[in-house]
Amino acid sequence: MKDFERIVCKDIPELSAQAAAEFVRLANERSAAAGRFVVALSGGSTPRALYSLLAGAEFQSQVPWDRVHFFWGDERCVPPDHPDSNYRMAFETLLSKAPVPEKNIHRLEAELAPEAAAARYEKAIRDFFSLADSAWPAFDLIFLGLGDDGHTASLFPGSEALHENKRLAVAAYVEKLKTYRITLTLAVLNRAANIFFLVAGESKASILADVLQEKRGSESLPARRIDPQGGRLVWFVDRAADASLQS
Ligand code: 6PG
Repeated sequence: MKDFERIVCKDIPELSAQAAAEFVRLANERSAAAGRFVVALSGGSTPRALYSLLAGAEFQSQVPWDRVHFFWGDERCVPPDHPDSNYRMAFETLLSKAPVPEKNIHRLEAELAPEAAAARYEKAIRDFFSLADSAWPAFDLIFLGLGDDGHTASLFPGSEALHENKRLAVAAYVEKLKTYRITLTLAVLNRAANIFFLVAGESKASILADVLQEKRGSESLPARRIDPQGGRLVWFVDRAADASLQS
């Protein structure tokens, strides 16, 4: 992992406020320059506070929502109203509270059979970006989290999905969870203009140090494979997660 920025925050509220400010800056910059701002959200629990903050009084009026398009970095293979759904989490915290046009929400239809869901999502991305067959999308911003096993999005250690170099999105069976997930591939993630990792809590301190300090044996960790070519990589971490890193 070459150059990255690490922003250490006191706690999740401060981490969320810093990430929200960057989101607002990028949203306005890209909307002015390109007429749209294309984001892939991450799931899990850490981003909840950020999403709620963006929908709240302090930030909501600063975002040109009609120009913001939402995709997902990954999704669990459940219906959109399932408690595990990343879409449901984003809908409850942000998309149902901010004036985001329906047409700007590009939900990953993970209730379908896994392979069909991945194929439909890939087609939706290709159509949105008007991509020729061999071309790759360039998301303006992709949010990612870090699992305590070093996974990110739904790219888990040892997954075949880590070797996919043609497709944009794949279905991956996650042995440890005994379930399928749909995930963007590394080839797509590493073409984003900006990648923001949101990592919080003492349970992430050890894995974060392994990833950022490139400890021996950590080269196989999926999160270490995140290295946006020509893009900006920012780790928003709280002090608890940062505890094992030598500054
Ligand atoms: C998911 C996420 C996953 C998540 C990490 C961290 O679908 O769960 O995409 O990669 O970001 O597991 O999750 P927490 O934020 O809950 O620690």
